[in-house]
Amino acid sequence: MRKKVIAGNWKMNMLPNEAIQFIEELAPMVKDTQNEVVLCVPYTDLFYALLTAQNTNIKIGAQNMHFEESGAYTGEVSGKMLKAINAQYVIIGHSERRQYFNETDETVNKKIKSAFEYGLKPIVCVGETLDQREAGETEEVITKQTKLALEGLTEKQVENTIIAYEPIWAIGTGKTATKEDANNSIKAIRNKIAEIYGQTVANRVIIQYGGSVKSTNAKELFEMSDIDGGLVGGASLKADEFSKIVNFE
Ligand code: PGA
Repeated sequence: MRKKVIAGNWKMNMLPNEAIQFIEELAPMVKDTQNEVVLCVPYTDLFYALLTAQNTNIKIGAQNMHFEESGAYTGEVSGKMLKAINAQYVIIGHSERRQYFNETDETVNKKIKSAFEYGLKPIVCVGETLDQREAGETEEVITKQTKLALEGLTEKQVENTIIAYEPIWAIGTGKTATKEDANNSIKAIRNKIAEIYGQTVANRVIIQYGGSVKSTNAKELFEMSDIDGGLVGGASLKADEFSKIVNFE
């Protein structure tokens, strides 16, 4: 049985004092869940979030990292730096980074490898645009992104990668993929992984859905056969709402 992983992606929101307050509020509400609870926070919140989440079941991650361990890369943060403060997760290749910050399949692949080098768990985002969906290219696009992201990883590393299937047209728009569509896309990703790394590996990979997940649709999505939880943006900014998503059962 794969675990459900519910990860919040705060994006460029929340000041340190708000992060602390949020985690103090969330912790008692999610303490009994069997699901994995993760918050991916801005770099400036990481240290405070990690301290506040100590002795809780809330895991903390970043939203990006550089693939080099150090050097002349002004403004960047490396996996080694994230690991040094005990961050556990890192989102890689979010569509906003692909769209606004020139993230490519190649940099995504390098970042995943670097994340593993430093013992961070990557949450790797793939997803099609509306144009691609309407042209019937969804499966081709997301399986190609998955293949390129995972290229050169060991089977063990692939097993430990979390993939977030996030149709771009559903992010922050209030439009959610139907549970059947989301499940089918995730199955296509799983089948591609099976084709390259074998069925056992594919059966173990956690693949989330993301894109306008909220407390009112989490249950129907997360109960689908292949959807192993979610990556949650807007609805992860209120502790009460996010706790309902974590406790969707
Ligand atoms: P959303 O964002 O839940 O606000 O649609 C999801 C994401 O971008 O990870």
